[in-house]
Amino acid sequence: MKTIMIHEMPDHVGETVRIGAWLSNKRSSGKIAFLQLRDGSGFVQGVVVKDVVGDELFAKARSIHQESSLYVTAEVTEDERSSFGVELQVKDIEIIHEAVDYPITPKEHGTEFLMDNRHLWLRSRKQHAIMKIRNEIIRSTYEFFHMNGFVKVDPPILTGSSPEGTSELFHTKYFDEDAYLSQSGQLYLEAAAMALGKVFSFGPTFRAEKSKTRRHLIEFWMIEPEMAFVQHEESLEIQEQYVSHIVQSVLQNCPLELERLGRDLSKLERIQAPFPRITYDDAIKFLHEKGFDDIEWGDDFGAPHETAIAESFDMPVFITHYPTGIKPFYMQPHPDRDDVVLCADLIAPEGYGEIIGGSERVYDYELMKQRIQEHNLDESAYQWYLELSKYGAVPHSGFGLGLERTVAWISGVEHVRETIPFPRLLNRLYP
Ligand code: 4AD
Ligand code: MG
Repeated sequence: MKTIMIHEMPDHVGETVRIGAWLSNKRSSGKIAFLQLRDGSGFVQGVVVKDVVGDELFAKARSIHQESSLYVTAEVTEDERSSFGVELQVKDIEIIHEAVDYPITPKEHGTEFLMDNRHLWLRSRKQHAIMKIRNEIIRSTYEFFHMNGFVKVDPPILTGSSPEGTSELFHTKYFDEDAYLSQSGQLYLEAAAMALGKVFSFGPTFRAEKSKTRRHLIEFWMIEPEMAFVQHEESLEIQEQYVSHIVQSVLQNCPLELERLGRDLSKLERIQAPFPRITYDDAIKFLHEKGFDDIEWGDDFGAPHETAIAESFDMPVFITHYPTGIKPFYMQPHPDRDDVVLCADLIAPEGYGEIIGGSERVYDYELMKQRIQEHNLDESAYQWYLELSKYGAVPHSGFGLGLERTVAWISGVEHVRETIPFPRLLNRLYP
């Protein structure tokens, strides 16, 4: 008999099949037992009827401990109440491995306990749903950029220079030299865009930020597109199309997962390009009108400011043209003003904060040199990067989308620690 997966069962109604599964939960009475089975592809209920299977198998079914691994032979029957519309009428059970005293029981557990048991917590329905949504965002990201003529390139993780400033770099030794773990692949992507036109990367990035918030990870994954001959406005259009595409893909391909998470679908359905734009200047005025006296022109926004701005839209919103002083060295100045740059952050709705940071890039050699000096960066480490504006410099733009914040927003989960399989947090390097 062929072993099939739970998600394939709707094609096997009326047949007797075998699955490999774990027992996630069970309940039983004297005559009937209900086994909640999972195999990674989904969850299904197995029904064991004493009169049908006999005393011995029924007793065995009732005795299996949570998270034991099994082969189950059963007939697939229709059941409208279940997620895949099917149920299993169990005929035989072979126990592969008996799990004893599985620590995560169906009762409530505290977050720290669950985080300590992250290697097991991943098996739960909620975590399973979040990981499936993460996977769909990654899948639809590749789809979007491939459909639009981008080439995937992989920047290095061990680097000698930093794009976002040096304060939050992870330092390591590279034989006799100093090296840093990448905080963004951007500078390398700019080089690749000059070779391949439109490129994107998807990889891990590292920030030694002492931030302990629901939006910060020490190690997170970023999608970074970089586009030659694309200027600020056009980059925003690509960003809003991209974000719309991933939201609509999750709606289409993860309905069971969104339901399991209790996500309000109407809030996702309306996420369609174009997105509203507000300048930094207007955002400051808006915050003053809302009574935020703690912020002045030239300051960076904190989480409460971003949330207040986001709340007045039911879409992601671009905040554009930030002051030069609070942004990295590579951002292109505004053509008519020297105090702001051609950049935008995309703020997600519902308090999830900044999910994209991006800008047009400086491509004038002298200006780039001056910026590197002004930011006290070690010029020798940026020599190769400077050469990009020496040999066939062109206007170009790019951005970075933080995967985990995006997963948190689309899934509707409170904290980014649940959006990556094994989060690296300020106080956590284990498991
Ligand atoms: O705004 P950031 O720092 O931009 C860059 O790194 C650019 N070099 C990207 C580019 O233009 N190629 O980071 C981009 C995004 C943020 O908007 C946020 O979503 C996410 O990365 N991010 C984090 N996510 C989780 N934990 C952290 N500590 C994060 N820091 C940034
Ligand atoms: Mg940013």
